[in-house]
Amino acid sequence: MPHTADLFGEAEAPGTGPSSAPMPTHAAAADTPAARAASLRAQIAAHDHAYYVLDAPTVPDAEYDRLFRDLQALEAAHPALATTDSPTRRVAGRPLEGFAPVAHRVAMLSIRTETDTTAEGARAFDARVRRELKRPESDPPVVYAAELKFDGLAINLRYEDGVLVQAATRGDGETGEDVTQNVRTIRAIPLRLATDAPPPVLEVRGEVYLRRDDFEALNEAARARGDKTFVNPRNAAAGSIRQLDPAIAAQRPLSFFAYGLGETQGWATPATHSGVLDALRALGLPVCHERALGTVDDLIGFHADIAARRDSLPFDIDGVVYKVDSLAVQAQLGFVTREPRWAVAHKYPPQEMLTTVEAIEVQVGRTGKLTPVARLAPVFVGGVTVTNATLHNASEIERKDVRVGDTVIVRRAGDVIPEVVGVLADRRPPGAMPFAMPHACPVCGSLAVREEGEVDNRCSGGLICAAQRKQALLHFAQRRAMDIDGLGDKIVEQLVDGGIVRTLPDLYRLGLLKLAELERMAEKSAANLLQSIDASRRTTLPRFLFGLGIRHVGEATAKDLARHFGSLDALMNASVEDLLAVEQVGPVVAESVHTFFAQPQQREVVEQLRACGVEWPEGEGAAAAAGTAPLAGKTFVLTGALPTLSRDQAQALIEARGGKVAGSVSKKTHWVVVGSDAGSKLDKARELGIATLDEAELLALMHGKAATSESPQFPPD
Ligand code: IVH
Repeated sequence: MPHTADLFGEAEAPGTGPSSAPMPTHAAAADTPAARAASLRAQIAAHDHAYYVLDAPTVPDAEYDRLFRDLQALEAAHPALATTDSPTRRVAGRPLEGFAPVAHRVAMLSIRTETDTTAEGARAFDARVRRELKRPESDPPVVYAAELKFDGLAINLRYEDGVLVQAATRGDGETGEDVTQNVRTIRAIPLRLATDAPPPVLEVRGEVYLRRDDFEALNEAARARGDKTFVNPRNAAAGSIRQLDPAIAAQRPLSFFAYGLGETQGWATPATHSGVLDALRALGLPVCHERALGTVDDLIGFHADIAARRDSLPFDIDGVVYKVDSLAVQAQLGFVTREPRWAVAHKYPPQEMLTTVEAIEVQVGRTGKLTPVARLAPVFVGGVTVTNATLHNASEIERKDVRVGDTVIVRRAGDVIPEVVGVLADRRPPGAMPFAMPHACPVCGSLAVREEGEVDNRCSGGLICAAQRKQALLHFAQRRAMDIDGLGDKIVEQLVDGGIVRTLPDLYRLGLLKLAELERMAEKSAANLLQSIDASRRTTLPRFLFGLGIRHVGEATAKDLARHFGSLDALMNASVEDLLAVEQVGPVVAESVHTFFAQPQQREVVEQLRACGVEWPEGEGAAAAAGTAPLAGKTFVLTGALPTLSRDQAQALIEARGGKVAGSVSKKTHWVVVGSDAGSKLDKARELGIATLDEAELLALMHGKAATSESPQFPPD
């Protein structure tokens, strides 16, 4: 097991070298329990930092869990070894009666908000600062730091002699609440600073927040349980921090970014705000890398750049923050009431807005799921005009009690579909009736049922239902399945409504005449569509399986199944036990696949598709399962554009030979396949000393030249 310093060194450490590793004591080599505990803590801290701060995991979860359990066992056997900075303390702690008050040594202020969301907002701030400083236009420009305005909850972290001793909310700015137990559960926050010479007191201020994907997952899980969902990531983060039971807080995947200081004693404070953030990062604290430094023009550029990328950030922001960079100039500017003159928040348009519900409709999905959708009075939110929003399912609509006529809060953040997150009950018009889910499918009239333990109502009509047929065709035709270019929803709609296509095989029996009759279908596009349908006949087993739309079989599962069974017939005849033998396949998937192929009409669809000439190479997957595939057990990462292969093609070739393609480079990567304009993945490969291949070398490797080599180095030939 490598030492902490090695791990930090590899993963772009805070600080500059072994001397700044967070737990220098473990270097005492003696194999005493104390030395072992210190070593385990250092390893866990290093993995936490790599995972939660650098976003570059260094070990698999199982290995991490093993270290953690070893440390817990050691501390249980030697209670004297337990320390406040031990990672085991992140999960310990009893529910509280209430939170103790904490008097802030340095008041926690708020920032003035600039509501003019245009470039003028930044100019107005610069003009105010210059006026205060009596620096006319002819003087050199003021240097500012720009950063994101995170939408979470402000926290003060107090480190004494390098150890986290207290975490407090902002409260009224003078007095906050002691939330140390809950903050300890946030793995991005170091329990000990990464330095050999910690200052006696260092208070770090920043924002606790929840990533959007973590928020969606949290709500998805709550929805599946039929529990109440959170309105937005900020509320979820704030609710989690103010949770009296730390065991619940520990289950909420909170994150943190540092953006400033509170009290310090004996710390050589850098002269600038940007220097402070760099120093905090070096101490192991998470600092967001979306930052800029410069004059007012750079602030305007930053505001515009972030606005353009706001949707693709992994977390919510409600603006950007500009701060005078020099701490001396900050002191000179001082405060007005409770706001510093040296900082401003420059907002973006909101991601939550009020509107009214004009109607509630019910849509039918591919698997028959009935989704209530609110038709809304158009509202501009999160950068787009929203006219409808999902209400998810019957139990959610009951819980939120959304009614036609209601005034509701609509949220659209990131590329997530718009959602009704709450109702303003006091604005409900008289006579608005509760919404009831229909007992019959609104499309085909079949009975709509809710199965035991499920939150969704489903149409029981199967492929009798035109809505399900349309969705099944679109699913089959999508790029990642059969890749039938040109078969979009408008055409599918006409094909199904016109009774031209009833089943998947009907697609392959279409003729030019029938297609050209469709509305808005020129003869040329009809011919093109026929050609893509024809080309889709030659496919791969994973694509075909995924395209069939078996419940719970996504792309990854389709690949696993194909690799394991090697042929469609082997899969169709597999028992539930056989299916459970596939790695990654659990009882739900096994049952679903088995049920699917047990139905004669599904087998008939498969047979007809084969009779229509749909085909794929068989057997390669089986070779991989038997461990004889040339790339079995090897992990690749693709970066840049390859000269002849598309990314999907390269991935398919690697996977067909038993290899895996991962999204990011780690120590576990065997080869990085490099094309033109390769980016940070190539840098990372160089940093970790991972071998690289070009397309020609990849192709050579696939033909078995070097694949038995255990070493990740690609032999010259
Ligand atoms: S600095 C004296 N920087 O916005 C300035 N605040 O009203 C203190 N916030 O409650 C705040 N991102 O929680 C600062 N990059 C950032 C911030 C930020 C979010 C929050 C903070 C505070 C509120 C300011």
